[in-house]
Amino acid sequence: MYTINELQSFISAEIDKEISRIGQAEPKNLYEPVGYALGMGGKRLRPVMALLSCNLFSNTVENAIPAALAIEVFHNFTLLHDDIMDKAEIRRNRLPVYKKYNENVAILSGDAMSIMAYNYLLRCESSDTAQMIRLFSQTALEVCEGQQLDMDFESRTDVSISEYMNMIRLKTAVLLACSLKLGALAAHAPAKTADLLYVFGLNLGIAFQLQDDLLDVFSDQGLLGKRIGGDIVSNKKTFLLLKALELSDTDTQKVIQDWLGKDRFDADEKIQAITGIYNNLNIKEITESFIGDFYQSALNVYEEIDLDREVKSVLLELAEVIMKRDH
Ligand code: IPE
Ligand code: IPE
Ligand code: MG
Ligand code: MG
Ligand code: MG
Repeated sequence: MYTINELQSFISAEIDKEISRIGQAEPKNLYEPVGYALGMGGKRLRPVMALLSCNLFSNTVENAIPAALAIEVFHNFTLLHDDIMDKAEIRRNRLPVYKKYNENVAILSGDAMSIMAYNYLLRCESSDTAQMIRLFSQTALEVCEGQQLDMDFESRTDVSISEYMNMIRLKTAVLLACSLKLGALAAHAPAKTADLLYVFGLNLGIAFQLQDDLLDVFSDQGLLGKRIGGDIVSNKKTFLLLKALELSDTDTQKVIQDWLGKDRFDADEKIQAITGIYNNLNIKEITESFIGDFYQSALNVYEEIDLDREVKSVLLELAEVIMKRDH
């Protein structure tokens, strides 16, 4: 079995090879931003998940490399468009593609990346390739659905926590789940085990997006590589905000609603005011405990996975890496 660190170095070397290949491609204004985006790093968690999952059933991970590249390129494509949609100022401590180049470039280079993702997947030589492509397509569409809900919720003030949960399942969790299942399919895993890995990944994915929301407020810009409070500025209906609305008295609710309704405001002042409310209501601790519930659900699914404990324990390490992340 490979360790998570080994898989991380392994996939990073593969991505570097792709970056140098893409760097030669023309037209420059289409492909250079792709290389820029992929070269900005990131945790590369999803491709590691695909390789790790493959490794549960096979001594080599070669068969899962196309799927791992497909997922990471697709993920980076979503970030190119997401940063336009969220008006992000910084990504991985660098300028987002739409700021370094321009919006049109970020749109078209992003489109190209989503097509490139399919080309990577098609390199996969497996009798399960058709199933892998179907899963990937369904996941890609679900991510779009989640992204649209996320945007729709910005201008709504009556979003429920269950609507939020559905939105993050779609925009984020299904891609983590898909990563594990694709890796398993690349190794011809039994269908039942591949499905359990999907559900395990779905729970981790929900925990992952809840953490993303938490870190957006309670982290450090240098560490996170994103602007702290970005979600507050853009009226994102995060778990933190919805919980704060639920737990606050009517006066505080009014303060929050007033901030949500302002068209012109000082961003730092808004971030400070809302963060202050989160602190008064212990929203950080409440969110952490909610994240813990999904971690626990993932562990329950883990118990059902029909593999030797010695083999499958790497999934526990993966869950811990995700739970302990600080960026
Ligand atoms: C950011 O994903 C977008 C979300 C789905 C929350 P990551 O936190 O995995 O981003 P990178 O790839 O490590 O930068
Ligand atoms: C991103 O959610 C989900 C996708 C890109 C599909 P966010 O908008 O919260 O991600 P960050 O915080 O910008 O990385
Ligand atoms: Mg977004
Ligand atoms: Mg965003
Ligand atoms: Mg976020």
